Amino acid sequence: MAIVELDPLVREFTAKERPMLIGGEWVPAMSGNTFETYDPSTGEVLAHVAEGDKADIDRAVKAARRAFDEGPWGKLTPSERGRLVHRIGDLIMEHADELATLETLDNGKPFAVAKAADIPLSADLFWYMSGWATKLDGRTTEPHVPYKPGSEWHAYTRREPVGVVGQIIPWNFPLLMAAWKLGPALSCGNAVVLKPAEQTPLSVLRLGELILEAGIPPGVVNIVPGYGETAGAALAAHPDVDKVAFTGSTEVGKLIVEAAAGNLKKVSLELGGKSPNIVFPDADMEKAIPGAAMATFFNHGQCCIAGTRLFVQKSAFDDVVAGVADHAKSLKVGPGMAEDTDMGPLVSKEQFERVTAYLQKGATEGARAVAGGRALERPGYFVEPTLLVDTEPDMSIWREEIFGPVLAATPFDDLDELARQANDTPYGLGAGVWTQDISKAHKLAKLLKAGTVYVNTYNIFPAEMPFGGYKESGWGREMGPEVLESYTETKSVICEL
Ligand code: NAI
Ligand code: MG
Repeated sequence: MAIVELDPLVREFTAKERPMLIGGEWVPAMSGNTFETYDPSTGEVLAHVAEGDKADIDRAVKAARRAFDEGPWGKLTPSERGRLVHRIGDLIMEHADELATLETLDNGKPFAVAKAADIPLSADLFWYMSGWATKLDGRTTEPHVPYKPGSEWHAYTRREPVGVVGQIIPWNFPLLMAAWKLGPALSCGNAVVLKPAEQTPLSVLRLGELILEAGIPPGVVNIVPGYGETAGAALAAHPDVDKVAFTGSTEVGKLIVEAAAGNLKKVSLELGGKSPNIVFPDADMEKAIPGAAMATFFNHGQCCIAGTRLFVQKSAFDDVVAGVADHAKSLKVGPGMAEDTDMGPLVSKEQFERVTAYLQKGATEGARAVAGGRALERPGYFVEPTLLVDTEPDMSIWREEIFGPVLAATPFDDLDELARQANDTPYGLGAGVWTQDISKAHKLAKLLKAGTVYVNTYNIFPAEMPFGGYKESGWGREMGPEVLESYTETKSVICEL
């Protein structure tokens, strides 16, 4: 087991107590408290981090408000603003190894995956969004005003930033989720208070340093690590925050909506999923079988869009199940820093307990594991990639988001029934279709109630395409031009000439 060498900068970074970023300064929590973040491949403490709570959030919101209302930020031209955002992407790539290492140590994902996917996707998001800064155009029109006959008018719209934005992100793609939220917020000219997940604050704190280095003015980005129930809740409820953007569980998403009601701040939510992934017998099985496996096992199943309900048409069911089971068994489970690791540990003890409880529940309910089904007997939070069959539509493993490497499969007969079965979930984040029949693929793409439908692929997250959910998978869209809607206000200016 060759271990990827640790970047010395990373050792230095984790050795020191990590402060929070408020008003351009790195400061301890006002309470003086810190919390521990763990390496999930060992369960050992990785670093100590300042623990923000309500008081720190309040301070950060004040700093953001000042930066938004009075700082140089609002006076930059869109071109200048866009160039600063672009520079963040450049700095991410210049520090790719260091950031990938931090991500692996804190989250558990394989270093090679962090390096190939998380880091360049994060950079690209800033690059893509930077171009929008100069394209937030309004429109001009000539309105019709029937009760003022003979009058003349000039009317136009302006796209303006929303103001101070609170952002609360999860631990599954720590840096990338920060990029998804910060990129559009900054390109549109907002100021931000970002709370990373308590499980994985490190890469985001390093990003904070790079954001200052890029030249983003002090106070425009504030980063307050801490727990959800304290720091997160205070941010969602804060009366001087104009918008809150959240990614995480549907359960907490509902709490965010309640907390936001106090000042009716704008809310965008990217929540859970239980996405259907559908394989037809006419699919290219060389792609569909590993594709069906990795739709769930990528990022250890800790992916909101994971394709965790596998539908296979009856005549191909046994072959696809056998192929996916073989693929699952071939995955090397180990520490993220080991070069031959395909799948790392789950992020935390809590997730480990949650996922292993589902494995238990699945067995009790009568589902059968044809691959995996157990935790690994070793330190750290490792669970085998698992494929369950003999599933029924009312089983908890079929209905509930597990957020671990657990894939459940069912055969289907009838194409007409399929869309109904696939849509039979409170979620609507993603779906996958594997077939060589383009007509079938596009018909299903239309029928599936999901924010993203993949055809002959899965887990692709380009900055150009909007991402978000139907039903209880959320409100609004991230990425693509669509996200700009949720980070701007449109102002109508009406002039009588
Ligand atoms: P969570 O929803 O509790 O945490 C996500 C973020 O929200 C974290 O930053 C957390 O500190 C914050 N948070 C928690 N409670 C809050 C509150 N009352 N007010 C404001 N912010 C709060 O997710 P958790 O507990 O880490 O994982 C539980 C389950 O949630 C997972 O098993 C998975 O099913 C789902 N989940 C979904 C994600 C997605 O990408 N859609 C990401 C993470 C978790
Ligand atoms: Mg939670």
